[in-house]
Amino acid sequence: MKKKSIHLICAARPNFMKIAPLYHALKKENIFEPKIIHTGQHYDYQMSQSFFNDLGLGSPDEFLEIGSGSHAEQTGKVMISYEKICERDKPDLVVVVGDVNSTMAAAITAKKNHRKVAHLEAGLRSFDREMPEEINRILTDSISDILWTPSIDGNENLENEGVAKEKIKLVGNIMIDSFCMLESKINQQNVLNELVLKKGNFVVLTLHRPSNVDSVETLEKIIRKVEKIEGTILFPLHPRTRKVLDSISLIGKNIKVIDPQSYLRFMSLVKNCSFVVTDSGGIQEETTYLGIPCFTLRDNTERPITIIKGTNQLVNADNLLDKIKDKKKGEIPPLWDGKTAERIVLHLKEVLF
Ligand code: UD1
Repeated sequence: MKKKSIHLICAARPNFMKIAPLYHALKKENIFEPKIIHTGQHYDYQMSQSFFNDLGLGSPDEFLEIGSGSHAEQTGKVMISYEKICERDKPDLVVVVGDVNSTMAAAITAKKNHRKVAHLEAGLRSFDREMPEEINRILTDSISDILWTPSIDGNENLENEGVAKEKIKLVGNIMIDSFCMLESKINQQNVLNELVLKKGNFVVLTLHRPSNVDSVETLEKIIRKVEKIEGTILFPLHPRTRKVLDSISLIGKNIKVIDPQSYLRFMSLVKNCSFVVTDSGGIQEETTYLGIPCFTLRDNTERPITIIKGTNQLVNADNLLDKIKDKKKGEIPPLWDGKTAERIVLHLKEVLF
């Protein structure tokens, strides 16, 4: 029997821990031939290859080198480059993950090449169309043939948008698979000692959303508040944020800026910190899984389950210092159990053969 060829599209840092568990699970079976297509939206070693190393992915099968640029530039470049590969390989399935520009661009390209498209992490909605990711999510979901959702709100959103029920499958949160797969290695990391930190005695801060970091005034307002939090605040700096922060250089003494961290080191920091202040999507989920309080500097979230069930709270620069006094205890949402890739493989055995 001819193996089913599957393209796994990845592009930016949060995508790598979503494709890795699926890649490994597909490889275990001798009926699938997965290929990793990296569009190159993130390209710095610390934003990309270090994740491939930690996640046991080696090197991508194809690297499209599209790099940075405006939304239209990134989207257009992915479509032009990926079209050639898609036409050449004619994969039986194209899997896109998350909500970055490359997710949408590859989905459109694949669909116009009459390929079957699956969206992993489908159905999430912030209902805020000012967010580029919301546009990417809506467009990707609207043309995908298979919609794998991480939580029940995803199913509800898709059904409300008129997506046929048969296309939607609740599979759970694939990012938690990466954590479970690597938990023992995460526990062996020496990063706390290296940075002279004690378990439960420091805060992790991450910021990269355009709405928080692209304006000097907004970022400065956030930093001024964060500086008032007691104790060490560890701030791994996203390249987008570095550009603006360099020009204001106003970091207080308790804020320790470090380079972006590899997956294993970063998860060790999150697991051992007292709480997280962030605007990331994925970290809202990882903290919920780990039971670490999370304060999300955003007006909304496409991951409401982390608030309803988990440890997450939405905050802004004005109320942050009050809100951190009240840390939530949460529970782990259903199917965030490290077995999402297994469920997807079972589903693919049904739908691809
Ligand atoms: C992208 C995603 C966002 C995701 C984030 C995770 C979109 C619209 N946004 O945002 O959803 O949460 O990735 O990090 O797809 N840069 C480097 N080195 C790199 C990558 C980027 O220096 O390896 C710099 C470039 O100056 C670039 C800027 O960071 O212009 C922003 O990168 P970009 O890929 O446009 O968006 P992110 O903010 O990373």
